[in-house]
Amino acid sequence: MEKRELLYEGKAKRIYATEDQEIVWVEYKDSATAFNGEKKAEIEGKGALNNGITSLLFSKLQQSGISSHFIKSISEREQLVKNVSIIPLEVVVRNIAAGSLAKRLGFPEGQLLKKPIVEFYYKDDALGDPLLTEAHINELAVASSEEVKVLRTKALQVNTVLSSFFQKIGVLLVDFKLEFGKLANGDILLADEISPDTCRLWDSETKEKFDKDVFRRDLGSLVEAYEKIYAKLKETQHV
Ligand code: C5P
Repeated sequence: MEKRELLYEGKAKRIYATEDQEIVWVEYKDSATAFNGEKKAEIEGKGALNNGITSLLFSKLQQSGISSHFIKSISEREQLVKNVSIIPLEVVVRNIAAGSLAKRLGFPEGQLLKKPIVEFYYKDDALGDPLLTEAHINELAVASSEEVKVLRTKALQVNTVLSSFFQKIGVLLVDFKLEFGKLANGDILLADEISPDTCRLWDSETKEKFDKDVFRRDLGSLVEAYEKIYAKLKETQHV
């Protein structure tokens, strides 16, 4: 497969065309950003860790019957994925109160939620990715009611599989963000990445953080935190 022209550059990844219109080439960058791009850093090794972790998690999901755009990892920081058009929604699933939910509802960080909460945010940097109700989604016409139902169902399925997977390695899946894309035939596929950049992951016992909050809140070395979670995940390959 050949890497052709740059199609898109985001905060954490670059997407290139290939000779096959149905496949794009993803390159994970070492850039870290938080607070809608206000806090920025270049962190050597982050791109490779996120590529490795995302590839492993998408493969695990595939084994559990949840397909995604992921095809294969082709180098330390690159992967091939199916070419989808990304639906401009961030689908967040939460099991434990943290981050913006803890702030919005006045819950202490770490409070277990009665059941998983699914939220939708509009992917729009200029608006600061606002939280959307289903009426907002319909008004914006970014997804139909049927599609919202599909997104919610798929997001909860991912939560079930990943929560039990992380539980096996002594890690709590606190919350995470997913993105979905559409194939030319309209099918909705899980897309983007699932990594410590997009999840909150805590040690079940000590509550040590292995995710981007380490960078957001200056809690230590991001690379060390991501390496720890990657090492734990790789151990399960043999389980
Ligand atoms: O900030 P908030 O608590 O709403 O984030 C919920 C989850 O979604 C966290 O795991 C966070 O890392 C992820 N997220 C993300 N990209 C965003 C916003 C949130 O990956 N733009």
